[in-house]
Amino acid sequence: MMRLPFGALRVRDFMVEPLVETDAAALAELHREDFHRPWSQIEFESLLSQDTAFGYAVREVGNARRGPAGFVLARRAADEGEILTVVVARALRRSGLGWKLMDAVLRELHAARAQALFLEVDESNAPALALYRRLGFREVGRRPSYYDHAEGKKSAALVMRRDLR
Ligand SMILES: CC(C)(COP(=O)(O)OP(=O)(O)OC[C@H]1O[C@@H](n2cnc3c(N)ncnc32)[C@H](O)[C@@H]1OP(=O)(O)O)[C@@H](O)C(=O)NCCC(=O)NCCS
Repeated sequence: MMRLPFGALRVRDFMVEPLVETDAAALAELHREDFHRPWSQIEFESLLSQDTAFGYAVREVGNARRGPAGFVLARRAADEGEILTVVVARALRRSGLGWKLMDAVLRELHAARAQALFLEVDESNAPALALYRRLGFREVGRRPSYYDHAEGKKSAALVMRRDLR
């Protein structure tokens, strides 16, 4: 094995793989890190068992025992797709994993000849909005006072669309 010079950082390598039902517990754990109303393991199991649902996890190469570093869950209906949720572990953000996950969904829908991908995002979620805009999503709707925050504050949900053809 090649030895790294003293002090060099090992570049961590991640692969994207389809989600499976046995991922449900790890997905619930990651989801809990960020969402005010986290989805339970049972909810993830139920979503993953639906024919129309699909998704991907990013996993560190050579570290199979550790849970996923992030995941995306989506749904397909007729010729449209919808992102249900996407999360990357806090410590690994801003290293391209969110992009890889969203790209895997876009590729799958493109191959299935879908017309468009939709999602809903909190307008105060700057990192997610930046990612979606860079991926070519544009705002097609707005639901005012949709999300509840601490101290009774509310924010709007933006509905975004990415054309696939
Ligand atoms: C949104 C989220 C999935 C992005 O994942 P990520 O792995 O950090 O994103 P990436 O590293 O792939 O970023 C790709 C691009 O998106 C944009 N972006 C991502 N995070 C950003 C941030 N904090 N600030 C500004 N731009 C950002 C940048 O353009 C970035 O490219 P660059 O790093 O070359 O500038 C992650 O922040 C997350 O898990 N957030 C909590 C859960 C959540 O809010 N999910 C969305 C619900 S709708």
